[in-house]
Amino acid sequence: MIHKARRHVRDQVHFLGALVDKPRSTGAIAPSSPALAEEMVAGLDLPHAGMVVEFGPGTGSITRAIERHARPDATVALLEIHEGFVARLREQFPRFQVIHDSAEHLQTHLQAMGRDGADCIVSGLPFAAFPQALQESLLQAAHAGLRPGGRFATFTYIHARHLPLGRRFYERLCGRFGEVETSRVVWRNLPPAVVYRCRK
Ligand SMILES: C[S@@+](CC[C@H](N)C(=O)[O-])C[C@H]1O[C@@H](n2cnc3c(N)ncnc32)[C@H](O)[C@@H]1O
Repeated sequence: MIHKARRHVRDQVHFLGALVDKPRSTGAIAPSSPALAEEMVAGLDLPHAGMVVEFGPGTGSITRAIERHARPDATVALLEIHEGFVARLREQFPRFQVIHDSAEHLQTHLQAMGRDGADCIVSGLPFAAFPQALQESLLQAAHAGLRPGGRFATFTYIHARHLPLGRRFYERLCGRFGEVETSRVVWRNLPPAVVYRCRK
């Protein structure tokens, strides 16, 4: 319990440091809560996934949920651009491949690992804070990096969901993926959020 509380405080401090350092790419005031992390991995069919990818793991809140549900023999690749987060993720998740690069370059890394495509991709990226062109190239990378039938999960804060940028992002998701489902609202998160679950 004390260990968890200490880690929570450390994560908050690192997260705030990143927010000050790189506000645009960090794009949130706090890491995702355990409740949101569980909602993000629900429906990804992790027990049957051999290749799992996470975009923007940050302090690892969603990564911990992946660790809890993934098969022990699954390959898990984490793509993160913030150097400070990368160093911590390597310490905390020695079994996972921590890649210091933009999620836009997923395809190159999958090829280097000898993989055709991922079974699922879970994204903690702050899409709403990104310019349209970056949103587009990240969604393109996610779609191209998934095997047919593969799943993609991302979240949005409920206050942003019905604003023009939020609506445009949802339309962009629908345009790219055949199937997009919206989860229940996760109230136990700051701010509350919903998960979009997509299927290639
Ligand atoms: C909103 S934070 C989310 C962190 C964590 N997934 C969570 O939910 O608590 C966004 C994270 O995405 C990372 N990031 C932003 N742009 C990225 C990109 N193009 N490729 C990979 N990571 C990126 C940031 O450095 C940050 O760690």
